[in-house]
Amino acid sequence: MADVKNLDAYNSCSEKVSHLDILRNTMSAPFLWGAQKEVGNYNIKDSTTTAFDPFVWRRIYLATFMFKGKPRIEQVNNLIVIHLPTQFRNQLDMGAYPYPFWHSSKKWNSYQQTTELLLFVEHEKLKGGLRSAVFDQTRLNVKRVWDGKWVWTDTRGQEPFVSLYTRLFSPSNPHISKVNTAYRAFEVKLRDSACFVCHKPDNSSKQNPLLILSYPNQALTLRHETVRQIEDKLMPPPTGIFDDQERQKLIELAKAFAQAGDLALAYEGEKIATDTNEFGSKKSAHFP
Ligand code: HEC
Repeated sequence: MADVKNLDAYNSCSEKVSHLDILRNTMSAPFLWGAQKEVGNYNIKDSTTTAFDPFVWRRIYLATFMFKGKPRIEQVNNLIVIHLPTQFRNQLDMGAYPYPFWHSSKKWNSYQQTTELLLFVEHEKLKGGLRSAVFDQTRLNVKRVWDGKWVWTDTRGQEPFVSLYTRLFSPSNPHISKVNTAYRAFEVKLRDSACFVCHKPDNSSKQNPLLILSYPNQALTLRHETVRQIEDKLMPPPTGIFDDQERQKLIELAKAFAQAGDLALAYEGEKIATDTNEFGSKKSAHFP
């Protein structure tokens, strides 16, 4: 356990958990993460979750917690629930959080006062994790006020800094600038095509799991699926991009981003599966 303000401890934890083989080899892609709906409910589908690339989750989310005490393992039918006692680092610099969690006081409180992470293992795969609904009301609740900005700029440049590839990848990763350039070019077009209206943290279209495209690191989760969704004219709903040339341009940018993302993640030791639909191809189920 370190001080809740200690940025070096957070960075060092990030480095360790992102390259921890036991997690790397067992986590599902995508990995689901959210707040437990109610105490004792271990069905992750009952909670609102966000889908993550496993490396991104370990590096940027898992590391915001410190771990204390012994984990408890519980078997519930075919599900193994790991109860991992935690303490959230709630006094870091604002830019050290993946996005301003305090846009919702309920969410911010769940990070601060949850007593454990629940990790769900099924068929030897770690499918997802939840912040337990068992709270410790005596834990310090640091008040933060959201100014309405999901990203901002200050003397260090664009924030939150942990959402950038320079923080996500190792300094020696030779693909950082390539993946950054590819994302920035893609991002402009995603904005033009209204993708961010729905694919950002406030989840205006009530997706579950939520799929975030509006931050460089989190956009990696969907890097292959975006290509398919645009090609098949499923996104944006209801019928994709009408203009053939515009659509083709976006497909090229999406492909370049997916390839650069694969290279950068592979360099970190991640296994890259490009041949499957990570989301089990739900095609037009929601937008017939
Ligand atoms: C009006 C809201 C809205 C807009 C605009 C939108 N999406 Fe979506 N998107 C959704 C919803 C809702 C889902 C979840 C659909 C589902 O569960 O089948 C989704 C799912 C996706 C998925 C995953 C699909 C799957 O089956 O796993 C991708 C990739 C995606 N969107 C990309 C995009 C891109 C790229 C754009 C812009 C070109 C975009 N979306 C614009 C609402 C939107």
